[in-house]
Amino acid sequence: MVAVHAFDTFLTERGIPVRLDHPLAPYTTLKVGGPADYFVEPRNPEDLADAVRAARDCDLPVRLLGSGANLLVRDDGVRGVVLRLTHLNRRDGLHVQAGYNFARLVKETAAEGLAGLECLAGIPAQVGGAIRMNAGGRHGETAAAVAYVDVMTPACEIRRLTRDQVGFRYRGTSLGDAVVLAAGFDLRPGDGIRERYEDVLSQKKSSQPLGTHNAGCMFKNPPGGHAGRIIDQCGLKGLRVGNAHVSERHANFIENDGGATASDVLKLVERIQSRAPVPLELEVLVW
Ligand code: EPU
Repeated sequence: MVAVHAFDTFLTERGIPVRLDHPLAPYTTLKVGGPADYFVEPRNPEDLADAVRAARDCDLPVRLLGSGANLLVRDDGVRGVVLRLTHLNRRDGLHVQAGYNFARLVKETAAEGLAGLECLAGIPAQVGGAIRMNAGGRHGETAAAVAYVDVMTPACEIRRLTRDQVGFRYRGTSLGDAVVLAAGFDLRPGDGIRERYEDVLSQKKSSQPLGTHNAGCMFKNPPGGHAGRIIDQCGLKGLRVGNAHVSERHANFIENDGGATASDVLKLVERIQSRAPVPLELEVLVW
């Protein structure tokens, strides 16, 4: 086993840049939270395999950061290794690497008149994150448009999974510790796709606080209900802890006014949960 301090040495020797004690808040849309012990952006799948193996040898946990749009990093940050697949960002037709901007893919395929992703207009994500979280909303979810997913297994083998093998469920998959490398999408030419895209996007703009620092919907919708409506009906819009508050525009969003801490946001989450008449489960990942 390699000693813990050897993780960065091992990667540096292979020319893979590693940043130590690297702040994560700027990589998240909520803009709160502390640093990662090690932060690595692999240049290719080989770098990724090296980083995963080195982390395992050093007994360090590994996390994948996507676009940071559905993530709350705690104030003391995360131990171990955070990987970001920024450089795996190629699109070859409908085969798209994990680091590709998902909102851009949705916009591009809609402009190409291809049906299947237009219902996901405006979801901030990288392709890998959209797959792993089965990103979606009231108009549909990512799973419906996926043909296959290429992953790197914890043993660093590359496998192609069919849609069924991915185990898609509401805002999740059964991928476990496998890393999404790329996905193939099943999109066909359709009519009125651009119009539908614009429609979904404008609905989103009119009902959600876009352009503020938030992590999207904080809670999953409970069976048969909408977290946003429930929180609104409890009269909690505007409820504040420190510099975080429940959005006036959509009650399932928490906004950071600037200077909020992760602890402010988590306290607000607890207050909402304690006042809601039904259990509300976080949709946002907490690191
Ligand atoms: N509503 C209120 N008050 C509010 C917010 C909503 O009464 O403050 C009502 C709305 O009027 C509507 C109902 O609640 O009748 C549902 O609201 P909305 O259409 O906004 O849908 P949602 O269920 O709250 C889901 C996704 C969103 C996605 C939208 C649109 C979840 C948890 N949320 O929201 O996803 O953008 O549909 O497709 O599934 C996200 O995942 O981060 C996210 C924002």
